[in-house]
Amino acid sequence: MTDVYAVIGNPIAHTKSPRIHAEFARQLEQDLRYEAIFAPRDGFAKAIAEFRAAGGRGMNVTVPFKLEAFALATERTERAEQAGAVNTLKFDGPVILGDNTDGAGLVSDIRDRLRFALRDARVLLMGAGGAARGVILPLLKQAPASIALANRTVAKAHALERQFAPFGKIESGDYARLAGQQFDLVINATSAGLSGKLPPLPSGVFAPGSIAYDMVYGKDARPFLDFAREQGAAEVSDGLGMLVAQAAESFFLWRGVRPDTAPVIELLRGN
Ligand code: ATR
Repeated sequence: MTDVYAVIGNPIAHTKSPRIHAEFARQLEQDLRYEAIFAPRDGFAKAIAEFRAAGGRGMNVTVPFKLEAFALATERTERAEQAGAVNTLKFDGPVILGDNTDGAGLVSDIRDRLRFALRDARVLLMGAGGAARGVILPLLKQAPASIALANRTVAKAHALERQFAPFGKIESGDYARLAGQQFDLVINATSAGLSGKLPPLPSGVFAPGSIAYDMVYGKDARPFLDFAREQGAAEVSDGLGMLVAQAAESFFLWRGVRPDTAPVIELLRGN
């Protein structure tokens, strides 16, 4: 019996997940099928129930259902619990395990593909929405010197600082207070780029040899990455590697084997 997996979202037409997982399956000779499922906004729970009833083994969950997936899970990993959102479901008899592989994907892309040492690094994370919250715990677990968390709405950054302070060194505030500080890794977790904008980052924050990373990929990453280059970042990267790496983490959760992300990133870059 071929095991069936799927990504569920709304919209879902442009998802790269089926292609990524088909490549992983080919690479590791796994007998599985991976589909894309469109669910109406009020039809998430029903779509999940139908998929499980038909023997589905696991799902990736994307916009706008990550919070509903969190609520639906009967068990959750620590990283999903702290992210407050679930992007991966694994169905095992009556158990619905909810995980969040976004942060692990970001960490693995930065550490393994970009060969950047997170330990003792000065990290700046911009944004305090769902995307930022999802990656803080995995970043802190790499023992950076500190994470500076900056957000336009400062109260949201302070709330995340309170949540994550037990796990490592994290300091929150507005963008203006970053003036005069330098960072080895600057991560954009805001949605500013989706409207062609930049977070209001003061100049001079990129340390020599620093990396700028945008969690979105393609043209939406350009405003920040272009700015970072002008500001002297030594290396810039969009989030395509993170997308593939979070998929690899989900694949590992489901199948117990780890795909090689590099050839799949290459393949997606090619078109
Ligand atoms: P996501 O799930 O992508 O994180 P979100 O929860 O809506 O989406 O969060 C969007 C983030 O981008 C927020 O941190 C938001 O800042 P505010 O909390 O102040 O709204 C940030 N953001 C969006 N547009 C921005 C802009 N033009 N400049 C700076 N930050 C921006």
